[in-house]
Amino acid sequence: MARLRVAVLISGRGSNLQALIDASDDDSFPAEIALVIANQGDAGGLMRAKDAGIRTEIINHRSFNAKQGFEASIDATLRGARIDLVCLAGFMRILTPWFVERWRDRLINIHPSLLPAFKGLDTHNQALEAGVRFTGCTVHYVRPEMDDGPIIVQAAVPVIAGDTADLLAARVLAAEHRCYPLAVRLIGEGRIRVRNEVVEIADAVPPDEDAMFNPIA
Ligand code: GRF
Repeated sequence: MARLRVAVLISGRGSNLQALIDASDDDSFPAEIALVIANQGDAGGLMRAKDAGIRTEIINHRSFNAKQGFEASIDATLRGARIDLVCLAGFMRILTPWFVERWRDRLINIHPSLLPAFKGLDTHNQALEAGVRFTGCTVHYVRPEMDDGPIIVQAAVPVIAGDTADLLAARVLAAEHRCYPLAVRLIGEGRIRVRNEVVEIADAVPPDEDAMFNPIA
């Protein structure tokens, strides 16, 4: 089967981009990173893409008077590169319904919480304040509402005594780096279907329930 042509949209350091690049280095991975778009010229992830020999484009939202022009430029660049799947990875611009609908079910995002809990920013402080025993991360299809849409993959990450937002963020980030390649792999393998706004995964193996207690039972 032909590999999916993936574009990754970033604004910053690009550690999730790196996880996707590393996964796609394996020939058996069913997707290649064909394009990286940053809305900031100083996004650290651009260097990661260049090191990997991936085409990069900087499309700065400040160069446009309105969101429409910014998004039309991204859309044209994606289409010109024959992109099949768009991955938002720390892309700090909210996309309008026009763009989201144009890429419906071909546009995914990673968010550092177990959605629908803790939408928006500062998710790790939100989790600590709520006193949850698990938080985690979510890869989901993008819908016009922020941090909303059918969930593809989640990882649960325990909250441990003495955690700070930074400690928790680092633990969740390690899980993100496993979740995003997994989600892209499942899509590339053609195992994902969205039905009634719920993701169905063919041949999904359930996790070990013993790992689901915090503290250990
Ligand atoms: C990640 O925590 C991701 O979940 C969130 O923004 C952060 C991006 O980090 N959407 P990086 O740029 O991938 O390192």
